[in-house]
Amino acid sequence: MWNEVKTNLSSTKVYLKEFLFFVTILIFLLFFIVENKIILITVIALILLFGLIFLNFIGYKRNRELKAIESVILGIRNNTFNQAEEIKLKENLRSLQEEIKQMFEKERNDIEYLKRLERMRTEFLANVSHELRTPIFAIQGYIETLLNGAIDDEKVNKNFLDKANQHTINLSNLLNDLIDISMIESGEMRMSYRYFNINDYFGQITHEMMPIAQEKGIELIYHPAKEGLQLFGDKNRLKQVFINLITNAIKYTEKGKVEVLIEEEPKYGKIIIRDTGIGIPPEDINRIFERFYRVDKARSRAVGGTGLGLAIVKHIIEAHNSKIEVKSELGVGSEFSFMLKK
Ligand SMILES: Nc1ncnc2c1ncn2[C@@H]1O[C@H](COP(=O)(O)OP(=O)(O)OP(=O)(O)O)[C@@H](O)[C@H]1O
Ligand SMILES: [Mg+2]
Repeated sequence: MWNEVKTNLSSTKVYLKEFLFFVTILIFLLFFIVENKIILITVIALILLFGLIFLNFIGYKRNRELKAIESVILGIRNNTFNQAEEIKLKENLRSLQEEIKQMFEKERNDIEYLKRLERMRTEFLANVSHELRTPIFAIQGYIETLLNGAIDDEKVNKNFLDKANQHTINLSNLLNDLIDISMIESGEMRMSYRYFNINDYFGQITHEMMPIAQEKGIELIYHPAKEGLQLFGDKNRLKQVFINLITNAIKYTEKGKVEVLIEEEPKYGKIIIRDTGIGIPPEDINRIFERFYRVDKARSRAVGGTGLGLAIVKHIIEAHNSKIEVKSELGVGSEFSFMLKK
């Protein structure tokens, strides 16, 4: 009991100055009012006694509140709460209770976010190693077979070298994509925005991509925009976007055409890349921009894809404060579009 009183009183130390101030004033006044010394001493003693009882009571209440707060904090630290609603303090501590609840929610979200990042990192590493292993094993296989005698076999030696060479090209493309992704995500990719003439620009890109389309027997058509139309963006980075989108359109189209057109709006130019290809299933549409995501892995790998192209495209377009849209119908075709400032 005495120990409890001691703790109660010591926790009211913060009010000691105020307490002494009031008691001194009271005693000072009493000196003038009460003349009888015995009465004066008794009153002072009573004031001090009640003062101490009062302080003990305040200390008691204060300690209980602090204990309640302490046990909530301990509960958070030991993960005993499953949700914020379980955190409860007394009525007079409502605002503190709300603050602690919000802190709890924030900590929960931060931990969730970190766990998600960790999962993404592990997945990313697993994907990278998998994608690297495929071409490296293939190249190793071809070289070993050649060394074991196939080099002298006129029927297969050139074919094996061609295949090994194709895998080194895939490997180098994959590494370039990985470098781009890591540069974009670490914020190191420098962008340089300028106005450029859209017709000249697409004239050159479609000219460069024409042989790939012709090889597959697909028509690649650019519908010129209004003469002299200029759009604002990073020409080089955008070239990467268009090459990716047009390559996809050609890659995932068996027959028909790939068209590039510009719809002019008052403040923007909307660039559309449309194909008559295999289309994308509705359940995959939201995922195709994820790193390494491919609708049909076997088919995509057969055409040399790793699923990084659209992830890079999305990043670059978002750096232009724009957003890529997709419309697609299975067996009919797909359309990718985004806006650029005029
Ligand atoms: N125009 C399209 N038509 C049909 N499917 C498409 C089209 N563009 C993309 N896809 C689907 O989205 C997936 C992701 O595309 P993305 O460009 O990111 O990867 P990729 O073409 O497989 O490989 P990469 O571009 O890295 O060489 C593709 O694997 C394909 O399944
Ligand atoms: Mg692609």
